[in-house]
Amino acid sequence: MKQTILVTGGTGFIGSHTTVELINAGYDVVIVDNLSNSQENVIDGIEEITGVRPAFVKADCCDKEAMDKVMSDYPISGIIHFAASKAVGESVEKPLLYYRNNILSLVNLLELMPKHDVKGIIFSSSCTVYGQPDPENLPVTEEAPIKPAESPYGNTKQINEEIIRDDIASGAPIKAILLRYFNPIGSHPSAIIGELPTGVPMNLIPFVTQTAIGIREQLKVFGNDYDTPDGTCIRDYIYVVDLAKAHVKAMQRVLDTDSPQLEVFNIGTGNGCSTKQIIDAFEKATGVKLNWAYAPRRAGDIEKVWANPEKANKVLGWKADTSLEDTLKSAWNWQLKLRERGIQ
Ligand code: NAD
Ligand code: WQD
Repeated sequence: MKQTILVTGGTGFIGSHTTVELINAGYDVVIVDNLSNSQENVIDGIEEITGVRPAFVKADCCDKEAMDKVMSDYPISGIIHFAASKAVGESVEKPLLYYRNNILSLVNLLELMPKHDVKGIIFSSSCTVYGQPDPENLPVTEEAPIKPAESPYGNTKQINEEIIRDDIASGAPIKAILLRYFNPIGSHPSAIIGELPTGVPMNLIPFVTQTAIGIREQLKVFGNDYDTPDGTCIRDYIYVVDLAKAHVKAMQRVLDTDSPQLEVFNIGTGNGCSTKQIIDAFEKATGVKLNWAYAPRRAGDIEKVWANPEKANKVLGWKADTSLEDTLKSAWNWQLKLRERGIQ
């Protein structure tokens, strides 16, 4: 009997890629998305890739009545909760929007799960909860201290992790897995779905590909005076399809009756890569010369953070195995496809 997974935020960047992998793994999927940061035609792309059209309900996860109806209409076994607002800078300007959207949406799901006998939830957390790990704590494990959030967005991730812990501690008949993503990048190898930032991209890779294709004049590298080998910040860039596959493994585990009620996993490659190394790797992988220049540091940037993913490797039986070269090529192919389709 096929199990049905509710994917909130499923027309978004990570949610759409995860929906593809869930379908490939034999699950039925119901996507709920309010299309505040994505487009409905992503569903067409998922169908084109998999041959299966997931059910789609346009709804706001903050609308408890709407979510109650979705969970009545479909035999949901598990939930992957991607739906959230995720722009760090915007969260500083509009904190209440972020607290409302990111916290109320989760509380609604947790309140409805027992009523509908939904057993498991996977929550999209972020390495942002670690802040700047102390040097002795790099690569960072799940046991690393949680640092005071540097933004309301990061705070919503920390608060949501605590809400899940407290709900389970109160005896809620559910299980949860918190996945702390590092920096997801790239696009599906088909170039049918990918990352589609609205407006000027904040994140590095979309800015790189938009500069390479001529949409942006020049990539600014924020700071070259950090305490790193080449002076630029270090991150753990993980291929979004590898990240998506981690969710399939986590869903299998959270629906497995013998696994613990609450688990946390770092989802990263375990390799730290500097901004300058990304630029060099992109130029090598694509043959495209990038117009870039050093610029002052960006406020709020973490100097260096990368994952120790051993727990996920061992317990989930999952490992990020796509090379940085192939990952960056997928991002470039997606940008070329967007131009071909007249989208960007
Ligand atoms: P995204 O913006 O592409 O996807 C989020 C989706 O949720 C969008 O389609 C948006 O329309 C939808 N949405 C937002 N609020 C909603 C609501 N109230 N009801 C229904 N739908 C709603 O973002 P993403 O990059 O795919 O991130 C997905 C999740 O992963 C988010 O929770 C984000 O915080 C987390 N995350 C992302 C990154 C990253 O670098 N992309 C890193 C760590 C964690
Ligand atoms: C990566 C590196 C920049 C753009 C953010 C959020 C985090 C998570 C992932 C949601 C940094 C440098 C970037 C540019 C640059 N999102 N950079 N020039 O900041 O690590 O993480 O996205 O959970 O919460 O904070 O990702 O891609 O913005 O930056 O030099 O034009 O690239 O300084 O070192 P970040 P990013």
